[in-house]
Amino acid sequence: MPSLDQYRQLFDLTSKKAIVVGAASGIGEASARALAAHGADVVCADLNGDVAEAVAAAIVHEGGRASGAHVDITDAASVEALVEAAGAVDIMLCTPSINVRKRLLDMSEEEFSRVVDLNLGGSFNAMKAAGRVMAEAGTGSIIMMSSVRSQVVEPGQGVYAATKAGTLALVKTLAAELGPHGVRVNAVGPGVVETPLTEQIKADPEWYQAYADIGALGRWSMPSEQTGAVVYLASDAASFVTGTILFVDGGWLAVDGRFTPPL
Ligand SMILES: NC(=O)c1ccc[n+]([C@@H]2O[C@H](COP(=O)([O-])OP(=O)(O)OC[C@H]3O[C@@H](n4cnc5c(N)ncnc54)[C@H](O)[C@@H]3O)[C@@H](O)[C@H]2O)c1
Repeated sequence: MPSLDQYRQLFDLTSKKAIVVGAASGIGEASARALAAHGADVVCADLNGDVAEAVAAAIVHEGGRASGAHVDITDAASVEALVEAAGAVDIMLCTPSINVRKRLLDMSEEEFSRVVDLNLGGSFNAMKAAGRVMAEAGTGSIIMMSSVRSQVVEPGQGVYAATKAGTLALVKTLAAELGPHGVRVNAVGPGVVETPLTEQIKADPEWYQAYADIGALGRWSMPSEQTGAVVYLASDAASFVTGTILFVDGGWLAVDGRFTPPL
C-alpha cells in the first residue's frame, strides 16, 4: 500500500523532461506553465520560436525550468530534430491546429489540405518522433489535442472535425502499438476555450453565447482550465491510463443545451 507521501508524489514531475509544441499560445502556453509548475523541465516549442522563447523566459523568471525552440510540425525532420535535441523526453504535448469554418461544398482543396496537413499530418509527425525515442527508452507519455468535435459536429466544422476524430484514432492506435514498450498515449478533448483559435467566434456575440449555452456550466473555458488534464495525463497519477480521451468540455457532450424545457 503506497504511503501518503507516495500518493502526493503521483503528480510530481520534477524528474521529467517535457516538450510542449504549440507553447506560444493558448492551451499550449498554459500547459507549458502548468507542467513547469509541477516540476517538469519544459522545452517550449512553436512555429513562432520568438514567442516560445518568451514563454520559456517567463517560466524561468518565475522559478521554473524551461527553454524555447522553433519547430514546424508539418515538417517531419523539424520535429525529429526538436526531439533529438531535447535528449531524454518523458512527456510530449502537441497542440497546434487550425480551423477553416466553411460548409463542405464551399471548402476548397487548398483549404482542406491546409487543415489536414497541420492538424492530422503535424500530429502524426509529432507522435512518430516522440513515440520512437520513448519506445527505445521504455517510458513516456504522449498527449495530443482532440476536441468535442471528434464526437459531434455542426455545419461548417466538417474538415476540422475529421482531423480531430482522426487524431483520436491515431492516439488509440499508437497506444496499442507502444503500450508493450511502456509508452502511454492519450488525448485531451476541450469544449470551447478562449484562445486565438476561437477569436472568430468570440467576435460574434450570438455565436459566442450559443456555445456558452451548450454545456452544463453555461460558459467558455480559459486555457488554464485545460491544464489539469494535461498534468494528470503526463504524470504517474495516470500510470494506467492510455488510449483514451479526457474531455474537458464543461459538460458540452453531456447536455443537449440547445433547448431548456419550461419545467
Ligand atoms: N480553443 C478551443 O476552443 C479548442 C477547442 C477544442 C479543441 N482545441 C484544440 O486545442 C489545441 C490548441 O488550441 P489553441 O486554442 O490553444 O490554439 P492556438 O491557436 O491558441 O495555438 C496554436 C499554436 O500552434 C502554433 N503552430 C501553428 N502551426 C504550427 C506548426 N506548423 N508547427 C508548430 N507550431 C505551430 C501557433 O503558432 C500557436 O502558437 C488545438 O489542437 C485545438 O484543435 C481547442
